[in-house]
Amino acid sequence: MKKLTKIHKAVFPVAGLGTRFLPATKAIAKEMLPVVDKPLMQYAVEEAYAAGVRHMIFVTGRSKRAIEDHFDTAYELEHELEAANKSDLLRLVRSIMPDDMVCSYVRQPRALGLGHAVLCAEPLVGDEPFAVLLPDDLMCGPEGGPGVLAQMVDVFQDYPTSLVAVQEVPLDHVKRYGIVAGDRVGERIVKVRQMVEKPSPETAPSRMGVSGRYVLTPSVFNEIRNNPRGAGGEIQLTDGIAKLMATEGVHAYEYQGKRYDCGSKQGFLEATVDLALKHEEVGASFRDYLKKTVC
Ligand code: UTP
Repeated sequence: MKKLTKIHKAVFPVAGLGTRFLPATKAIAKEMLPVVDKPLMQYAVEEAYAAGVRHMIFVTGRSKRAIEDHFDTAYELEHELEAANKSDLLRLVRSIMPDDMVCSYVRQPRALGLGHAVLCAEPLVGDEPFAVLLPDDLMCGPEGGPGVLAQMVDVFQDYPTSLVAVQEVPLDHVKRYGIVAGDRVGERIVKVRQMVEKPSPETAPSRMGVSGRYVLTPSVFNEIRNNPRGAGGEIQLTDGIAKLMATEGVHAYEYQGKRYDCGSKQGFLEATVDLALKHEEVGASFRDYLKKTVC
């Protein structure tokens, strides 16, 4: 019988500056912006929890205090809701932090890049495979199916190397992504031979763009540490993972589901409309509103 390699820990790098969302992100983290009624951060944590992860590690920076407060007990609020007999709301608030979930925080003192942010989590991750989720990529699994990280944890059982989530992107968008190319070795699985950060359309080896979900082996920490600064003068996660191609190997997984780039205004608006239309409470009335307004 196959031995199950559990992924216990997930790293959430949330120390970026969020400049594309200024002025909203001047004093609050972009990861706390709500899509309908939940902050982006909570969607990502719920996705990790559903994939079996129980230790959430946040790499935070200045102006990110609200994230810590969100995943903590809110004594005054809970007391008020209890006193007012609002048991549904009380359950909702308490469900954000299940009893078996642990949260740890580490600071990235300067926003030196995503690779550097992941490296800041090394003392908390230790020597075991771990997940990385970028909360500004809001990922929706297929209707009624597993979330994207759960799919990846499953794939990791058969391909226990570092794993990146990919989807085909339009050619004129390749410069926004890490792009991978390689050999197909299974259904939706590619053995990665080339990996470049934000190439131009002329030099891109394929149109397979990396989305913000990874399962990584701990060797990536040394590769990040030993890598010079890459594209944009930042310490890139892509460059660290690319080094693993020559040692342990890297696979790309073409995930099932939809990604919303909520770090951009367009992606954030698309997520808001799509999720509002599916929302239990406001979905039907919002659909009526859109029909009347948009056409
Ligand atoms: P982005 O480049 O999308 O985030 O990084 P950003 O820098 O916050 O946004 P813009 O481009 O200025 O609008 C992807 C992820 O990596 C994190 C970000 O918080 C985001 O989740 N990140 C990026 C860090 O934690 N530290 C960094 O130094 C850079």
